[in-house]
Parts: sequence; structure tokens; C-alpha cells
Amino acid sequence: MTVLDSRARSALRGLENYQPGKPIEEVKRQRKLSSVIKLASNENALGPSPKAMAAVRQALASVHRYPDAQVTLLRDRLSKKLRVDPASLVVGNGSDELIVLALRAFVDPGEEVVVARPTFLIYEIQARACGATVRIVPLKDYRYDLTAMKLAISPHTKLVFIANPDNPTGTYVTKKELRAFLNGLPASVLIVMDEAYYEFVRAADYPQTLSLIQDYPILVTRSFSKAYGLAGLRVGYGIAQPSVIGAMNAVREPFNVNGLAQAAAVAALDDRAFLERTRGLLSEGRRYLMKELAALRIRVVPSVTNFLLLELGHGASTIAEQLLACGVIVREMRAWQLPHCLRVTIGTMPENRRFIRELKRCLSSP
Ligand SMILES: Cc1ncc(COP(=O)(O)O)c(C=O)c1O
Repeated sequence: MTVLDSRARSALRGLENYQPGKPIEEVKRQRKLSSVIKLASNENALGPSPKAMAAVRQALASVHRYPDAQVTLLRDRLSKKLRVDPASLVVGNGSDELIVLALRAFVDPGEEVVVARPTFLIYEIQARACGATVRIVPLKDYRYDLTAMKLAISPHTKLVFIANPDNPTGTYVTKKELRAFLNGLPASVLIVMDEAYYEFVRAADYPQTLSLIQDYPILVTRSFSKAYGLAGLRVGYGIAQPSVIGAMNAVREPFNVNGLAQAAAVAALDDRAFLERTRGLLSEGRRYLMKELAALRIRVVPSVTNFLLLELGHGASTIAEQLLACGVIVREMRAWQLPHCLRVTIGTMPENRRFIRELKRCLSSP
């Protein structure tokens, strides 16, 4: 728990800080290891898109200038690709920032926000930091329970967060489930559809939410951090009706997306080959890990994303610690109240093999 100044806003009291995955360099230094792999933050195993790297090199010469506050070029490219009006697009410093902008734009202190549990932790942390009252709806067998979430909506509810697919489970809400949820919602609620892993999903019954924006109060958020490999540059975008985007722009800082990030994102959008290689590697890695984990009799939650949630029983955090000691960073899940689970990002094939090798060693050690 962090020390909190007595003058800090009362909403911040008792708030847990978000605990990110451990950085590779820190683990190398602390554990005196020369080789460490990180399978803890759902990053792209292939590294950044080569086209994006070239664009960053070129953009470096202009870092003495402020970036384009309107993010014009990227919004223009996205508008053509997604066939939406540029006025329906807002770009953020990661899709994380869009979550914060939505809260700042729509939720007054004391109003309600509905979130699932376990899900992406930022929704609850940031909603509480805004002074919102958070209504928690448990998942059902690792899946969002939209029927229960709809029942949790009251006249005081302003936002509902739906991670689709969900993190940390990797499961998704279907078209049919989403339609049933959206029908008959009060006009006072905005639904945030967080699609940070959108590009990975291949399921036929996964909802295409952009077609719903005209008719329903939806903000869709997506990320360049995952499929496009730009987590370190921080770019995400939101799509909604222009009035929703207008409210978010009212609370957005003018230079929230830096120039290198803007250039990289524009180039990455065009890098079809990189996206295809990313998807190919993901399918191969997922197939391999599922087979190996099944042979070890470990239950894995079916995932449409680039990570897997493993049920390991009461020794899960000890195993995470043992894996760390041999240079494999995975995510232990106590912060999500899943102490029996580990979350592992699907890596390159050598990384996946190393993870399985070390996991077998941990499981067989007394
Ligand atoms: C469900 C979900 N939403 C949003 C994010 C944030 O992504 P970004 O890097 O775009 O801020 C993540 C990151 O892990 C995530 O898992």
C-alpha cells in the first residue's frame, strides 16, 4: 500500500495501485540472471512492426516540435480503414487513457459504474479514483455474465465496462449475448466495449461492434499495444458517436499522444505482413501450449487472445515465484482474486518451450 498524503482526495484512500508485470531488466538485475523472458503483460512476441520502427526513426528528427494535437493523420487513416467519420474517433496514450477519459467525461462523484470481476483492473481502480460507486458483477465460469450486469444497472449508473475479449480470462461475449444486453438499456448509460485484443479474435460469433455504434450508446476502444506491437509507445483509439467523442475531447490533454507514437501507429496500420505473422505465431503457440498443458492435466480457460489463464491450484503463486527464479516472468493472479491461477502470455516458440520446460521442473520439484 502506498503512503498517501493527508490532503489527497478522499476517493484515493484505500485504493490499490495497479501492479504491472515485472520488467525484464529488473528481474535480470535482482536475480542475477543473464537470460529472462517475459510472458506477463500480453505484449507482442514478435517485437514491434518493422514499418513502425522505420517510421519512428524518421519521426525522431521532429521531436523538438509538439505533436499534432488532433492526431489528424492517424485519425484519417483509421477513418478510411474502419469506414467511420473522423469525428467519431479519439486517440489516447494507450487505450488505458481512453478508460480514464470516459470516466472523467461521464461520471460525477457518487454516480455508479458497473464492472465485472475478475477483469481488467484499471476500470475499477480508475472509477474509484474518480469517486464513483463501483458495482461488481462476478464472472460465471470465467465468462462475463451480461444478464447479471444488466440487472446491476440502476438510475445512477453512467458507465458499464465490458472487456471483450476479457483479460485475464481470454473469454469473449458473443453477438447474441451483447444484443440481448443492449436492448432496452436506459439512455443514461454508456457502454465501454474494450477491444484491446480485437485483432486476435477469429470466432464467428464475436460481435462486430462498429456496426452497433449508430443505434446503441457504445464507446469501442482498441489498442496498438497488442497485435501491432507498440505497447511501449502508448497508442489506443476510441470509436463512438461524435457527441461521446466530443465529451472525451473536452477532458483530453491536447498533446496526449506523442509524435513518435503517432508516426508508428500510422505505419503499423499498413503493415499487413506483420499482423499476419503475429496471428500465425499466436495460433502455433496456442496450439502447442494447449497440447502441452493438457498433457500435464492443467485446466486452461479457452482463450481467443494472446494469453492463457491456467488453473494450478493452491501452489500457483509459489510456481510463479519458482518460474521467476529461473528467468520466466508470468503473472500470478492474487490481485484478481484468482490465487489458484497463473496467466501466461503466448510467446515465440522458443519462449513457449522454455516456459513448458521450466513449468514441468517446478511441478516435479517437491
Ligand atoms: C483488456 C485490456 N484493456 C486495455 C488494456 C490497455 O492497453 P493499452 O496498452 O492500449 O493501454 C489492456 C492491457 O493489457 C487490456 O488487457
